[in-house]
Amino acid sequence: MSKNKKNDFYNILLGQLLSQDEGIDAEILTNSALNAIKIASLNRNFPIISNILLKASSDFQRSNSSLNQIIFGSNFKNPVGLAAGFDKNGVGAGLWNYFGFGFAELGTITWHAQKGNPKPRLFRIAKEKAALNRMGFNNEGAEKFLSTIEKQKIPMPGNRPCVLGVNLGKSKITPLDEAHKDYFLSLRLLAPLSDYAVINVSSPNTPGLRSLQGTKQIIKLIRTLKDLSNCPPLLVKIAPDLSNEEIDEIARVANENGIDGIIAINTSLNRFNLKNLIIKTGNTLEQENGGLSGLPLEKRGLEVIKRLRNSTNNALPLIGVGGISSAKTAWERIAAGASLVQVYTSWIFEGPYLVPEILDGLTLQMEKHGFQNIKEVIGSEEPWK
Ligand code: FNR
Repeated sequence: MSKNKKNDFYNILLGQLLSQDEGIDAEILTNSALNAIKIASLNRNFPIISNILLKASSDFQRSNSSLNQIIFGSNFKNPVGLAAGFDKNGVGAGLWNYFGFGFAELGTITWHAQKGNPKPRLFRIAKEKAALNRMGFNNEGAEKFLSTIEKQKIPMPGNRPCVLGVNLGKSKITPLDEAHKDYFLSLRLLAPLSDYAVINVSSPNTPGLRSLQGTKQIIKLIRTLKDLSNCPPLLVKIAPDLSNEEIDEIARVANENGIDGIIAINTSLNRFNLKNLIIKTGNTLEQENGGLSGLPLEKRGLEVIKRLRNSTNNALPLIGVGGISSAKTAWERIAAGASLVQVYTSWIFEGPYLVPEILDGLTLQMEKHGFQNIKEVIGSEEPWK
């Protein structure tokens, strides 16, 4: 089947639904997909399912060693990952490699199970290839997460086809001044199964969470988590709405306190030039609470990576996320300094063929530039040809 035919297949199934803001609720669609993924992951050795997965992997996976890198001690088969927030409960942990991802970030997971904010809380903004969400860390909690991963019988860290990170957040019921204890409890439980862990202090939908990006607060958090004897490589995920000076400061503090990498960016409270756009609720984007994701984030996502690269003096691996929707935008993020990239909103709109399309595009660009390995692209500032 040609690539366009394959894309047509996704478009026939879902494209109509995804091309309009009205229609089936975005969260219901996500949960339906996740339910199928959950069943497939639990039963991936059953003949029918393993045949389907074999077919999926032949379509989506690329085994090109020039895309391979060791980062944080883990072997990333390629630099494209699934961003946090899609697989909040880890139900697809055994499956993400079949979709071609080099890594997947599970969560956000909190210590206490929580329902999140009232529905509806996830909105498509189809024309802009964007989404607005105010989910509020709905998840089953760290203990249930552990059993969900164990049931899938996934190989242990170091031995996986797809690197798995866990993204940790603060439970809503935990007071802000006890946030470090809440993150610590989750990390202590989940460290043995995590290739890396992320301190998420940048989601806009948990009251006060972003204040943990402040110097005193983040130092306390990092030091508490680093005290864990088996602490996995620890990253921090930051918001796009920090000022450039605040970005410099968090980079300095992260560097000085032993953080292993920075993920930029989370969803934005900025509405960019979309303030007056009316969404499904009948209100304008400016009137609605929540974080914006997708194409409108592309420019800021790139700026933040450039800023971080300078302020960390290239000392820390960076993961670029926010508005990446093509091989070109992935290349630009890597050339600006990201070692790895993640996708979420565009992966929903474009469908699963986006991952191989990015991987093939990166490979071709490397050939055009005469690079042997993706590592050479990082921070090269080489333009897309
Ligand atoms: C997110 N994102 C997110 N990030 C995070 O660290 N923890 C989370 O739980 C979530 N949840 C979440 C839910 C939904 C519905 C969306 C759309 C996004 C943010 C995500 O990981 C990413 O940082 C941004 O969406 C920007 O990337 P894209 O979507 O522009 O590729």
